[in-house]
Amino acid sequence: MSVSCRVLVLISGNGSNLQAIIDGCDDNLQADVVGVISNKPDAYGLIRAHQSEIDTSCVIAYKDETRVEYDARLKLAIDKYQPDLIVLAGFMRILSDEFVQGFEGKMINIHPSLLPKYTGLHTHQRAIDAKDQVHGVSVHFVTPELDSGPVILQAKVPVYEEDTCEILALRVNEQEHAIYPLVVKWFSQNRLAMLNGKAVLDSVELGAAGYAVD
Ligand code: GAR
Repeated sequence: MSVSCRVLVLISGNGSNLQAIIDGCDDNLQADVVGVISNKPDAYGLIRAHQSEIDTSCVIAYKDETRVEYDARLKLAIDKYQPDLIVLAGFMRILSDEFVQGFEGKMINIHPSLLPKYTGLHTHQRAIDAKDQVHGVSVHFVTPELDSGPVILQAKVPVYEEDTCEILALRVNEQEHAIYPLVVKWFSQNRLAMLNGKAVLDSVELGAAGYAVD
């Protein structure tokens, strides 16, 4: 890897995780956000990128385009940035197996649940409906099966009886902003990799919940 890890962030919306990563990279001389790609032209994260003078691209899905066709165009847009790391930060598209396999070990995602619980959508409401007392967020390497790649790091939050989906989402979001820049930093320092389908940090294979200190 070159001196500075070239980080490319893919978004669909607000981009608060993008912002946390931009801010984290300001303090991390080993990583640079070199570009932001959105599938939505009105994603607020694009404005955040412009404010930080980061190059942006939009890859909008055409009507009737297949997933594989879209992903081929997305790959072209990605390749222009020659990234070392692709960070999915609220990028709300399912990616084809071929696409994911092409970036194995180089693409990470943040998912608002304690995986393997609640893959897919509406995770906060599902945690409330199940009367979970603990909920949280996971950062994981991306593999073809949705939200199922090896977990790198999780953060937990309490769930209170009076919680609404919005309040719980805010609590989780705050933790997201703490853990995602940290994982980017680990990767940029060459401390983190995916080997044989497992997340490995400092040569130690991580367990199902990722890095954990008790
Ligand atoms: C985050 O909460 C992230 O965990 C979630 O989208 C939000 C994006 O927020 N991602 C997923 O649900 C992916 N399955 P942001 O645009 O403010 O970073």
